[in-house]
Amino acid sequence: MIDNKHSNNKIRKRINFDEPIADMIERLKSEHHNFENKLHEVEDAINSDKDIAYATKIISNMSESIIHHAVEEEARLLRVIMHKAKAESFESIKIMQEHNWVINFLKIDLNKIANRKTLDLEYSSSLKYIEDTKLINEFISNLREHFIEEEQIVFPLVLKAENISS
Ligand SMILES: [Fe+2]
Ligand SMILES: [Fe+2]
Repeated sequence: MIDNKHSNNKIRKRINFDEPIADMIERLKSEHHNFENKLHEVEDAINSDKDIAYATKIISNMSESIIHHAVEEEARLLRVIMHKAKAESFESIKIMQEHNWVINFLKIDLNKIANRKTLDLEYSSSLKYIEDTKLINEFISNLREHFIEEEQIVFPLVLKAENISS
C-alpha cells in the first residue's frame, strides 16, 4: 500500500518532455513576467519599506519555482541547442551557466541574510543591513538581465534550431 503522506512529500515537479517547445517557450516567458512582478514587490519591500524580512520571504517563496524553471531550461532548451545549433551555442551556454549564481544566491546567500536579521537586534541600522540590501538589489538586477538575455538570445536560437518562426 502506498503511504500517501510520505509519497506526496517526495513528489517533485517533473519535467514534461512532451510539451511542444514553442508552447514551453511561451510559458517560460510568462513565468519570467510573473517572477518580474514578484521582483517588483521585493524591491518595494527593501527600498521603500526597509523590510528585509518580507523581501527574503518573497524570494524564498519564489525559490522552488525559479529552480524548477532553470532546470527545465537546461534539460530541454540547452538540449535542442546542443543537438541542432551547436555552432551557435556559445552565448546560450554562458547564459545557462548564470543559473549557478542564481541557485547559489537562493541556497546560500538568502539563508545568510535571513539568519543575520534574526541574530542582530540593531540590524536595521547596521552596515550589514546596507550590505544585504545591496546583495538583494544585485540579485534582482542580475536576474532581470538574465531573463532579457534568454528572451533575446536563447529562446530565438531554440526556435530557429527547431525551424519555428517566432
Ligand atoms: Fe534561466
Ligand atoms: Fe528563464
